[in-house]
Amino acid sequence: MGKMIVDPEEYFRKLVRGRDELLLTLEREAAAEGIPIVGPLVGQLLGLLVRAAGARQVLELGTAGGYSAIFLARALRQTGGRLLTLEWNPGMADRARTNLEQAGLNEVSEVRIGDALGIIKTLEGPYDLIFIDIDKENYLPALGDCARLLRPGGLLVADNIGFRGADGFNRALFLDQGWLSVSLWSFLPEHSPEHDGLLLALRL
Ligand SMILES: C[S@@+](CC[C@H](N)C(=O)[O-])C[C@H]1O[C@@H](n2cnc3c(N)ncnc32)[C@H](O)[C@@H]1O
Repeated sequence: MGKMIVDPEEYFRKLVRGRDELLLTLEREAAAEGIPIVGPLVGQLLGLLVRAAGARQVLELGTAGGYSAIFLARALRQTGGRLLTLEWNPGMADRARTNLEQAGLNEVSEVRIGDALGIIKTLEGPYDLIFIDIDKENYLPALGDCARLLRPGGLLVADNIGFRGADGFNRALFLDQGWLSVSLWSFLPEHSPEHDGLLLALRL
C-alpha cells in the first residue's frame, strides 16, 4: 500500500471551500462563455495571501468579469486596503464593476479600462501585492513595471505560468537576483485549466 492518497484529484476537489451565490453564478457564466477565471481554489489563495501579507495596496492585471477581483477585494476589506484592477475589454470591465458593486466592494476597488501594459507605466505605487493574469505573452513585458511598483518584500503572483507564452517570464524571474520566486506546477480544481502553474515571487 503506497503512502500517498489514492485518487488525489478527486480527494482534493472535495476540499475546496464553498462559495456564495454571486461567485457560483460567475463560475457558471465563465464556464458557459469560456471565460478563463482562476476558480475557487486560486481565488481563495489570493485572498489568503492578501491577508497573510497584510497587503493594503493591490494591483490586478486582467479583471475579466471580476471573479478574482472579488476575492482580492474581500480580503482587502479585512486589511483596510484597496484594489486597482485593469481590463482592456470595456464590456468585461462593465460586468466587473457591476459584480463588484453587487458584492458591496465598490469602495475598496476600482476597475480601470485600458491596456495594462500602458497603464502600469503611469502608476507610481508602491504596491504590496500584484496579481498578473493577462495574455501570457505580456507577462514578460509587464515584469519591469511590476518590479518598479512592488515595494521590497511585496509579492508578485502570476497565474497560468504553465502556458508556453509564459516561458520567457518564468525564466527571467528564475534568473533575476531581484526576486525570490517559486514556480508551482499544480492540480487546481475548477481552475482553467485544472493542471497549470502558479508563480509566487517576493520582491527583494
Ligand atoms: C484570464 S482573464 C482574467 C480572469 C480574472 N483574473 C479572473 O480570474 O476572474 C484575462 C483578462 O485579461 C484581459 N487582458 C488580456 N490582456 C490584457 C492587457 N494587455 N491589458 C488589459 N487587459 C488584458 C482579457 O480581456 C481578459 O478579460
